[in-house]
Amino acid sequence: VGGKVLEVTEEELAKHKLEEDVWMAIRGKVYNLTPYLEFHPGGIDELMRGAGKDSTQLFDEVHRWVNVDSMLEKCYVGRLKSEQIVSR
Ligand code: HEM
Repeated sequence: VGGKVLEVTEEELAKHKLEEDVWMAIRGKVYNLTPYLEFHPGGIDELMRGAGKDSTQLFDEVHRWVNVDSMLEKCYVGRLKSEQIVSR
C-alpha cells in the first residue's frame, strides 16, 4: 500500500525464525533475510542466531561496521513496534 510503513510487532517478528522464512530487527528496522542467508560471509548458522528477534546487540558485537541500511535496502519489511528499540 503506497508509502505506508508496516509496523511489525515482536510477536509477528518471532514467527519468522526458520531458514526458509527468516526476519530480523536491527536498530528498529525489520528485514527479511531469507534471500540473503546463503550470501552471508559469516555463514547461515551464525546469522540464524538472530532469527526472529531484535538482534541489534548481537549484530554490533560481531560487525558494527557493516552497513545494514544499504546492504538490505531491498529486504526491508517495516518498523519494529517496540518500547525498547536499541539505537546507535
Ligand atoms: C561477517 C555473524 C548478521 C553481514 C560475519 C561474521 C560473523 C557474523 C561471525 C564473521 C565471519 C568471518 O569473518 O569469518 C553474524 C551474526 C548475525 C549476523 C551472529 C546475526 C545477528 C548479519 C546481517 C548482515 C551481515 C544481517 C547483513 C547486513 C555480514 C558481512 C560480513 C559478516 C558483510 C563480512 C564483514 C567483514 O568481513 O568485515 N557475520 N552476522 N551479518 N556478516 Fe554477519
